[in-house]
Amino acid sequence: MDNVISYLEGQRTQALEGLKDFLRIPSVSTHPHHREDLRRCARFLADELKRIGMQNVAVNPTSGHPIVTADWLGAPGRPTVLLYGHYDVQPAEPFELWESDPFDPVIRGDNLYARGSTDDKGQVWLHVKALEAHLRENGRLPVNVRMLIEGEEEVSSENLEAYLESHREELGADVVVISDTSMFDYEQPSIGYALRGMAYMEVRLEGPNKDLHSGVYGGAVPNPLNVLSEMLGKMVDGDGRITVPGFYDDVLPLGVEERASLAALPFDEEGFAGRLGLPGSTGEKGYSTLERLWARPTLDVNGMLGGFTGEGSKTVIPSKAMAKVSMRLVPNQDPERIAHAFEDYVRSLAPPTVKVEVIHHGTGKPVLTARDHPAVTAAHQAITRGFGKEPVYIREGGSIPVVAMFEEILGLPTVLMAFGLPDCDAHAPNEKFHLPNFYRGIDSAAWFYEEYGRYAD
Ligand code: BES
Ligand code: MN
Ligand code: MN
Repeated sequence: MDNVISYLEGQRTQALEGLKDFLRIPSVSTHPHHREDLRRCARFLADELKRIGMQNVAVNPTSGHPIVTADWLGAPGRPTVLLYGHYDVQPAEPFELWESDPFDPVIRGDNLYARGSTDDKGQVWLHVKALEAHLRENGRLPVNVRMLIEGEEEVSSENLEAYLESHREELGADVVVISDTSMFDYEQPSIGYALRGMAYMEVRLEGPNKDLHSGVYGGAVPNPLNVLSEMLGKMVDGDGRITVPGFYDDVLPLGVEERASLAALPFDEEGFAGRLGLPGSTGEKGYSTLERLWARPTLDVNGMLGGFTGEGSKTVIPSKAMAKVSMRLVPNQDPERIAHAFEDYVRSLAPPTVKVEVIHHGTGKPVLTARDHPAVTAAHQAITRGFGKEPVYIREGGSIPVVAMFEEILGLPTVLMAFGLPDCDAHAPNEKFHLPNFYRGIDSAAWFYEEYGRYAD
């Protein structure tokens, strides 16, 4: 491994410059006008995989954005890793809040700023560099590797399920490895063992059939914005509990041991709130901040639209109101069941004077991953080497719906090797990758393939 690690040391500039080129391609999956950029980004990644010596590199078309696959299967008797990641990114809007162009990566201080820098291009790239080092230095990899890098993660992986169903054999492996989550803290690496799931809903109300003068009509007609806010206000009670009937029925409670292990993590409660400009954190009564973030479900209004929001004032009763509501779910809640319970609840709360429409957007299942898998042991050793510090085991508040699909469709467990940070501003303006962790991440990934390669298949 010495040769691999010193190769990587000599390659830092190239690794960084390559990532910058990857980040310059605006692969925003949700915007139809970026369609060609996604194809370009997929081809850019595929070309790099060919260059480092991966085999069977392909850009597979789907009815949405292409899926990049590759493999290297020259280690008979050794385990097979399926590396998953995504090359698509969230929109950069609002552009005016960026200090530099989101698609022209720049270094300020210890960070590389660009959309996708940690979520997830940077974390995909660090694996590519680790694989390159093994292939260049030793002419081989210590394990068999298959890669599946998609372009639709940020839009609910719409075409991935069908792809997994129809390519079971080509995707055969022992374990899935994903680097698309956050470390516990700057100096504290971690391995994730749970992700929350998701049910995303939209509620539309219509009151009167047109906008009305609020003096002429106010008081005698339903105002859909008043009604909607009242309904949403009822959905979380004074104890921070969600009032959707049956919502908690399938929630797996935290055990005594797990609560103790979460409580033992060095969490800086004051810093957490302080960095966000808050006097303190909030949430469900009876739970710590980490429990609320990782192991308890939530209901959040993501946005509301309706009526007059321009400058100045306008006296009007709007005809329509709309809200987007997402629920983060935990094991063993069923997103479809929750989505229907939410719809029934909305209909039961709405007065007969308004028309209701409930739209179901994406769902994703929550997951708990194995902690006793040999790949977890290998990841532990690898991160310890890469960071000079042992990782802690954490849950994650975010969602990667495909993890449940790997389990259900391919029967594969997942290891979440995290190199992002909670304050990397993924999905927000000024997203950044903390460069020391980018380089430690490359070393950790290189060590992972080495350590896992010591196991017999
Ligand atoms: N990489 C994130 C998920 C993530 C981030 C998990 C940090 C844990 C910690 C992923 O790209 C993402 O944004 N997922 C979406 C899923 C949604 C589109 C279904 C999310 O969590 O909002
Ligand atoms: Mn991601
Ligand atoms: Mn994301």
